[in-house]
Amino acid sequence: MIDLGDIRKEYTQGHLDERKVAPHPLTQFHAWFEDYRATGPIEPTIMTVASVDANGQPWQRILLLKAYDENGFVFFTNYLSNKGQHFAANAKASIHMFWINQERQVQIQGSVEKIGREEAESYFHSRPRESQLGAWASQQSRPLVNRFELEQKFEEIKDQYDGQDVPLPEYWGGYRLVPERIEFWQGGAYRLHDRVEYVKQDEDWVIQRLNP
Ligand SMILES: Cc1cc2nc3c(=O)[nH]c(=O)nc-3n(C[C@H](O)[C@H](O)[C@H](O)COP(=O)(O)O)c2cc1C
Repeated sequence: MIDLGDIRKEYTQGHLDERKVAPHPLTQFHAWFEDYRATGPIEPTIMTVASVDANGQPWQRILLLKAYDENGFVFFTNYLSNKGQHFAANAKASIHMFWINQERQVQIQGSVEKIGREEAESYFHSRPRESQLGAWASQQSRPLVNRFELEQKFEEIKDQYDGQDVPLPEYWGGYRLVPERIEFWQGGAYRLHDRVEYVKQDEDWVIQRLNP
């Protein structure tokens, strides 16, 4: 067994006070996200998104957060992918973001809903043309014989849409995770971390501190 017990770090960057957090979790999220973004990470919108399959097995993968407001957190993907199939049967999902520069993590639980076609069109056409073609070339999460098969498909699609706009595939679009709970975690010395959760109750957000 490789023993990693000696790798140890103290978390000392600050505190999160449940009496001082924003009344709305989106305001708090925005403040923390902007703090993180200001540190110049390579890919600031990275998040882990969890879904649950028909056997109750959780799955996770990295996705990019593309928009957020008080209605939820939006990401784009293939509706026929593994995650798409999970969400079709069980809309429960969770987002996790870890911002090591600030020793912070945020987790969000809720349910996903598909965004409107118009919103998806607008984002799809804002992507580089090659990425639009890539969405057509990849049957995301399905088996592939080898890389050549994928590249060949890409070339076929490229020829097919030569000189034309690339249409939004029927199976491609966005999900909005509508939050029911959001937790903000700030690392603390001696593992005495600060945790503040917001839980949606009717139209209100109830705030409480949790044990670390
Ligand atoms: C940095 C990074 C960003 C990614 N962004 C996306 C994304 O926005 N949408 C997406 O469908 N897959 C994205 N992926 C690929 C996913 O992690 C995953 O492999 C893919 O969505 C298939 O997941 P599934 O089989 O669980 O459905 C990204 C991967 C990485 C490492």
